[in-house]
Amino acid sequence: MYFRIEHYAVLVAAMTVAQGARPPEDIERRVNALLARMTLDEKIGQMSQSTSLKTPISEQIRDEIRRGRWGSFLNAGSPADRAEAQRIAMKESRLGIPLLFGRDVIHGYKTIFPIPLGQAASWDPELVSLGARIAAQEAATEGIRWTFAPMLDIGRDPRWGRIAETWGEDPYLASVFGAAMVQGFQGDSLDASDSLAACAKHYVGYGAAEGGRDYNSTWIPEILLRQVYLKPFQAAREAGVASMMTAFNALNGVPVTGDRFAVHQILRTEWKYDGVVVSDYEAITDMIQHGYARDARDAALKAVRAGVDMEMVSTAYFDHLKSLVQAGQVSSTTIDDAVRRILRLKFRLGLFDAPIAAPATASITEESREAARRLATESLVLLKNAGPVLPIVGSAGKMAVIGPLADSPVDQMGTWAMDGRAEDVQTPLSALRAALGRDRIVYAPALKSSRDLSREGFQQAVKAARSANTVLLFLGEEQLLSGEARSRAFLDLPGAQEQLVEEIAKVGKPTVAIILAGRPLTFHDVAAKVGAVLYAWHPGLMGGPAIADVLLGKATPSGKLTITFPRTVGQVPIYYAHLNTGRPAAANELGIPMGNPVNPAGYTSKYVDVDFTPEYPFGFGLSYTTFAYSDFRISGPVLHAGERLTVSANVANTGTRAADEIVQLYIRDLAASVSQPVKELKGFQRVHLAAGEARNVTFSLTSADLAFYNQRMQLVTEPGRFQVWIAPDSTGGLRGEFTVR
Ligand code: NOJ
Repeated sequence: MYFRIEHYAVLVAAMTVAQGARPPEDIERRVNALLARMTLDEKIGQMSQSTSLKTPISEQIRDEIRRGRWGSFLNAGSPADRAEAQRIAMKESRLGIPLLFGRDVIHGYKTIFPIPLGQAASWDPELVSLGARIAAQEAATEGIRWTFAPMLDIGRDPRWGRIAETWGEDPYLASVFGAAMVQGFQGDSLDASDSLAACAKHYVGYGAAEGGRDYNSTWIPEILLRQVYLKPFQAAREAGVASMMTAFNALNGVPVTGDRFAVHQILRTEWKYDGVVVSDYEAITDMIQHGYARDARDAALKAVRAGVDMEMVSTAYFDHLKSLVQAGQVSSTTIDDAVRRILRLKFRLGLFDAPIAAPATASITEESREAARRLATESLVLLKNAGPVLPIVGSAGKMAVIGPLADSPVDQMGTWAMDGRAEDVQTPLSALRAALGRDRIVYAPALKSSRDLSREGFQQAVKAARSANTVLLFLGEEQLLSGEARSRAFLDLPGAQEQLVEEIAKVGKPTVAIILAGRPLTFHDVAAKVGAVLYAWHPGLMGGPAIADVLLGKATPSGKLTITFPRTVGQVPIYYAHLNTGRPAAANELGIPMGNPVNPAGYTSKYVDVDFTPEYPFGFGLSYTTFAYSDFRISGPVLHAGERLTVSANVANTGTRAADEIVQLYIRDLAASVSQPVKELKGFQRVHLAAGEARNVTFSLTSADLAFYNQRMQLVTEPGRFQVWIAPDSTGGLRGEFTVR
């Protein structure tokens, strides 16, 4: 299971040709012929998307479909409703234009995989792609051909509830995983009946919401926008993503849904993106609340001029576009361009040519369960293992399973699991019972939910802990606290969980905390009281067996964080690729500076009340074995433009168990016309090493990998000195230096 920069390029190349089996000229001819026959009303209908497909389909909706009122439905109807609606559209409407059914298939459809932030911790794009492929097959079976994923927002604020849907804080990783997911959803050919059109969202900057409060405004200087926030979208565009969604947020004062600069200028003109752009849910009419549009008519005008092709749920387009065209405020070319993109997507998906499929139900297969189990296993991050407590050997007697998340199927699935069913979930409790037998497990939930403040169940939990040899504490946050509109101002374990840990710790048994959550939480004191901490995210329906495998040593943990864990919420935003400042603090520098403004000793960039470094850094994760990095080499001291440099190190498994190591490549540009981050990830490889095995791990770098945006928004590689690391995480590793000429 390797992943290299080169592989990413190959993946992208494969995807770019895999747009659809039909020749583009053929599609363009059919699109234009159809467009020529459409009335303005029918065109505006194609630009409108609704949730109003309900069981049973009302007469009104049937009639509207016949009249071409809707181009698409989202998150609506049963498989039978979708089949029937499609029949009406194709057989009873004047032009027979098929509907496009969209849905939020975010981390699985029936087979729920870990949340994307968990999937990212696997650093395994091939497996992530497989997960998306399985989701596509299941969703397409039920008549869905468009998913609103991958989310490509950069997440640097764990208060933001939607950080669960991100790939973490790094634009390179978000690009790699985003492209992998697009490939998985769209398959080899968009017009295969089991392909979904993917949708890169939320274009752009949504993750930078001030205060981590969902939907809040973002202020991102253009240089940072291009360097960080736009990058994954550009990668998705190169990967052939079929659509993009405009974000809810105002970016530098302008709601993106009405922002000609972001959509028309960058996406359409600079990137020449010809896929569909859909608004987020009522984001067009939200522009009135934003104070950017006077009314719905003004909002429709601004959105269509920006380049938004389809309106999700609100009806400003339907209500006003026609009269805006008649008044000469919107040109018919603008409308035709939007409709052309929508029709093109429907042709690419093969919707016009495929027979209307009979309603069918997707089911979870053994293979899909196995993929979910593998991805969940690879997503687990071991953060602490003193003793070591883990793995627990088979003969270790009784285990107390305690905590609100040990047996909570819905919480385990996490946000956006609309189609996941609780009965399909295997919880840690059920998996441990299956693995060890019921007699060896004493279960005491102690708290009814993660938010429960009552200590009523503590006594029984303490009793369970006393009776066992090892205690497994399943802590975290429930599904309800994570996802859209679920921002938190505190990042600690909610409810009475910390008090529970305190009581259990007093019992004095070897204790492991397994934390299930949709975001990085702060749990410094909890970690200090237990022997081991395993971070499990919301691991999906096979999370239970995956966790049991790792706890019992059937699998070795290999996940690494793709997001920095703060010590306290007051450090947020905290991320590894920050600038150095003019006064960087030294490691372990803490406390009130003893100097004064005249003699500024200790006047460095830090806090007086907490260590400025993170609790757990980006890229970090422990294993049951140990790895040694040695023999660092660079192919030469100088990298000339257009050439390639190779960087290698020997990575050895120095322990007694076979394991995967995620080897990371970082660079730093030491002096540039715009200050560059102290470290930037440029590549990684997941390497499997048997006990005692060593391998040479090689990366290559070109001058293009070192490029950044200068003040004139040109992408440049400037000559000068660079540092380069091959490292187990963002804080350590072996370092070398080279010069770019
Ligand atoms: C709003 C969310 O922001 C977006 O991600 C989602 O796809 C739409 N709702 C549709 O459910």
